[in-house]
Amino acid sequence: MKKFYLTTAIDYVNNLPHIGHAYEKIAADVLARYWRSKKIKVLFQTGTDEHGLKIAKAAKAAKKSPAEFVSQMVSKFEQSWKNLDISYDNFVRTTNPGHQKKVQDYLIKLQKARVIYRGVYSGFYCIGCEEYKTESELEQGRCPIHKKTCEKVSEAVYFFQLSKYQKQIYEIIKSGKLKIEPESRCNEVLSFLKKEKLKDIAISRSRVSWGIPLPWDKKHTIYVWVDALFNYLTGNHSQEYWPADLHIIGKDIIRFHGIIWPAMLLALKLPLPKKIFAHGYLTVSGEKMSKSLGNVIDPDKLVEKYGADAVRYFLLREFSFGADGDFSLARLEERYRADLANDLGNLVQRVLKMVQKYHVKIIAKNNQGLTGVEKDIENLKFKTALDKIWDIVITANQKIDQAEPWNIAKKDPKKLAQFLNQMVSRIILVANTLAPFMPETSKEISIQVQTLKIKPIFAKK
Ligand code: MSP
Repeated sequence: MKKFYLTTAIDYVNNLPHIGHAYEKIAADVLARYWRSKKIKVLFQTGTDEHGLKIAKAAKAAKKSPAEFVSQMVSKFEQSWKNLDISYDNFVRTTNPGHQKKVQDYLIKLQKARVIYRGVYSGFYCIGCEEYKTESELEQGRCPIHKKTCEKVSEAVYFFQLSKYQKQIYEIIKSGKLKIEPESRCNEVLSFLKKEKLKDIAISRSRVSWGIPLPWDKKHTIYVWVDALFNYLTGNHSQEYWPADLHIIGKDIIRFHGIIWPAMLLALKLPLPKKIFAHGYLTVSGEKMSKSLGNVIDPDKLVEKYGADAVRYFLLREFSFGADGDFSLARLEERYRADLANDLGNLVQRVLKMVQKYHVKIIAKNNQGLTGVEKDIENLKFKTALDKIWDIVITANQKIDQAEPWNIAKKDPKKLAQFLNQMVSRIILVANTLAPFMPETSKEISIQVQTLKIKPIFAKK
């Protein structure tokens, strides 16, 4: 039986989940549901990244121990994914003892492979990125992403010989053996590999205590990014399902996944993931979401007001998955009203009401999905897929307006039955194709078609 191992990034738990995190989990969930419907054995893994300075600092600010702090935060993430109907199979917490043990084992294997050496790192550190920065990367001493002054540090560390893999990784990506999508992101990684000389990376920290102890030198903890990347191999059944068929991540963390991760896997002589897809970044009114700006959009609030399916639909219909997007509540309201309540909701209501009123026998059956949409989903072209589904919805409404079935009813009941069956067949087609995107709505439409217990699918807001 064919398998599909699909992962998302694991989220830092220093802050509450926002729609950027949700966007990624929703997209992955659509794929997981889609492949399951094709009878493929899916392992869908997500989780939380709980170590490092950033988290330790947040715990301190909340006057909690890191362990207590992360546990509380993790339950918020789990709750949000439940609210959004995210059907993951594994949820890896990097503070799980099982994960920690396996990461330590991988580190020992790396050491045995002689790709690790001891040294001292002196330079700058951005806590937001959890990454060392070179002076040339900084803008007036600040991280260009987090706009915060980077600390000057000097610490004893162990290095991983990343530099050794520069040429090999370039070839692997260039040849398509490891696919990076969209193309623009692939080119970004390739041109980085071509222009910059890769430096060895520090994989341990002696200044950071909130982390997994380095097995052969307990004064050090394992660098949080190394700890995090190994989650892809530490979940339940992750090793059996390895290599990952797809890592879904945001564009900001492409180098960790496209360069550091493959290098560690090469050192361990393990197969490489087949594909990495880096989605775009969501902003709010053109601004990065941040606590200090107070513009963080809470997915729970959206789900409470509009329902999980409407939020899932909106995020994937409004933005092309590979591109950046600007979130707007007004656009969500507009799409809720126009696309969901009007186009889809009305189509189902008016057709089923006529079926009921004119006592039409439903013979329409449709177990198929809409052709073309499957490839779009497989290629993570969710917006294109939804555009196609809505074409069917909109043209069905137009056909009804033109055909005026209420007039046919008076003259030709047979023709009416035929026409309404055609429309029901379209509705079933739409419901089937929508299933991975809007699982509850799809189910609800199917039930209403079968029972004719008709009620509005999207109440007017
Ligand atoms: N913990 C690391 C990932 C380790 S994976 C081995 C991390 N965490 S994060 O919480 O900052 O981000 C988690 C995921 O959410 C990343 O893929 C990131 O790109 C994505 N997003 C975070 N903010 C986002 C937006 N504003 N918009 C879209 N995606 C965003 O990075």
